[in-house]
Amino acid sequence: MDTGVKMRAKPMPDVKFCLVFRRETLSVPVMRRVLGDTLRGLGMDEESVYDILLAATEACTNVLTHGGRKVRGYEVLTSLGAVGCQVEVADEGVGLAPGNPALSNSALLNSALSNPALSNSAERGAPDPQQTPIAQLPESGRGLAVMRACVDNVTLDSRPGRGTVVTMRKRIRWPDDAPLRQLRAAS
Ligand SMILES: Nc1ncnc2c1ncn2[C@@H]1O[C@H](COP(=O)(O)OP(=O)(O)OP(=O)(O)O)[C@@H](O)[C@H]1O
Ligand SMILES: [Mg+2]
Repeated sequence: MDTGVKMRAKPMPDVKFCLVFRRETLSVPVMRRVLGDTLRGLGMDEESVYDILLAATEACTNVLTHGGRKVRGYEVLTSLGAVGCQVEVADEGVGLAPGNPALSNSALLNSALSNPALSNSAERGAPDPQQTPIAQLPESGRGLAVMRACVDNVTLDSRPGRGTVVTMRKRIRWPDDAPLRQLRAAS
């Protein structure tokens, strides 16, 4: 029977979780398994999970390949919100050398998700000179291009000698019955 009452989807809580890995080759497939299972379990569609895992795989592989020997480990910090997903891959390695082509463009890529919970200071105010755009870089390898193709926004924040943070954001349409929506009721 139609009661005339419109059913509304439950609001989406903001959720953040961090995976910490040692700098070892096995960490990449483990990241894929743990992050993928978690995103699927919270209701993300399979295509988005695929894209996010592919982008995150490139970022994590870069830590292992380019981070340098002093990197003991790295973090994969994931934030989920009403309209999107953000994954940050952070290491404390060598960072990018000043002459690296990946640092040659100073304009900030800015196609931020509309959810303020997924925005950072660089998108709210003046461009952060430490943040380097990825969108218009000259060819600098396959990995960054793959990340750009898989998600809506990629930034690379590098401090020479102190590490690198790659931030990837993707818009997500959560289904009305996504388990993530149920979490508010329990909190
Ligand atoms: N975590 C990181 N630490 C230090 N340098 C990095 C890091 N991530 C990326 N870079 C630098 O950015 C460059 C571009 O990365 P990208 O993944 O596009 O290409 P690549 O890793 O060189 O090649 P491919 O991914 O095709 O194997 C790297 O060559 C490296 O110099
Ligand atoms: Mg790479």
